[in-house]
Amino acid sequence: MARLIFEGTQEERVLDDGSLIAPVCEEAGVPFACTEGVCGTCVVEVTEGMENLTEFTQEEEDFLGDIGCERLACQCRIKGGSATLKF
Ligand code: FES
Repeated sequence: MARLIFEGTQEERVLDDGSLIAPVCEEAGVPFACTEGVCGTCVVEVTEGMENLTEFTQEEEDFLGDIGCERLACQCRIKGGSATLKF
């Protein structure tokens, strides 16, 4: 099992290893629009546990440019362990 923690609210959600983070993020209040990695509405900042998220998708590289601490919540999955997000 993996855990996502939302920094603002300290809300913590448990999800299966390998899950898309989008459904849990949506429940926590992250806004979504295209869900295809194009619009950037779902950008979140990863403050801890970036290594526990899957590799950047082509869509994320195209939208975010240089790889930093931001991810598109509609694109990434959690591999296991925990990650802390800010939005
Ligand atoms: S919802 Fe459009 S990029 Fe994620």
